[in-house]
Amino acid sequence: MKIIKVKNVEESAQKALEIYQNVLNNGARVLGLATGSTPIPLYQKFADSSLDFSNLISINLDEYLGLDGQDKQSYRYFMTENLFQYKPFKYSYVPDGKSGNYEVATKNYDQIIDDNPIDLQLLGIGRNGHIGFNEPGTSFKSTTHIVDLTQSTIDANARFFEKKSDVPTKAISMGIASVMSAKKILLIATGESKAEAIAAMVNGPVTESVPASILQQHSDVTIIIDEAAASKL
Ligand code: GLP
Repeated sequence: MKIIKVKNVEESAQKALEIYQNVLNNGARVLGLATGSTPIPLYQKFADSSLDFSNLISINLDEYLGLDGQDKQSYRYFMTENLFQYKPFKYSYVPDGKSGNYEVATKNYDQIIDDNPIDLQLLGIGRNGHIGFNEPGTSFKSTTHIVDLTQSTIDANARFFEKKSDVPTKAISMGIASVMSAKKILLIATGESKAEAIAAMVNGPVTESVPASILQQHSDVTIIIDEAAASKL
């Protein structure tokens, strides 16, 4: 793992932007994207940059079950609001949270990933070490699947909803094997609330109880962390 320590959120976004500029100059065509508050400063930098995504494909990690793309809390809506309206891609895939048949929806998403191998997968990290919506205990062999969100994740994400009872309890997520299939991975973590998860990911054993710990076994992972997120390393 290559760890880049930065002072603050602004610097984390700047460093990440530089990594994207480099990867795109080297011919990347498929970007794995993430939601959550962590990547927003980077998406703002994308929006303000001269980068052109119109010939690229994006594949998002996950989506809440039961929300369609028009729903303001859906991850499809989040992506449109924060990035796609400013920087459209040739095609942007987000898992279908409203499919009537989740077996088909998960298989289709795996096929999309197989057909479009991800050049650079962007990740945040949950306070409990989850990546995408792969909660502790998820098999390292998992591909796209339906997930029961843990109380910790529901509590953490409740800030985006009017009330906690509005937070969906299930999601559709790329699996850990799908994430690991990306050629490069960039994980960004900022803030004290991520310090424990970062310490477990970097220094702890590789265990399914800490999904992000599997990244120790990927050959091309970069972690950008600010001082607060690095405080327990
Ligand atoms: C959600 C997303 C993750 C994200 C995590 C952390 O659970 N599914 O992809 O990494 O939240 O979010 P934040 O960046 O807001 O802390």
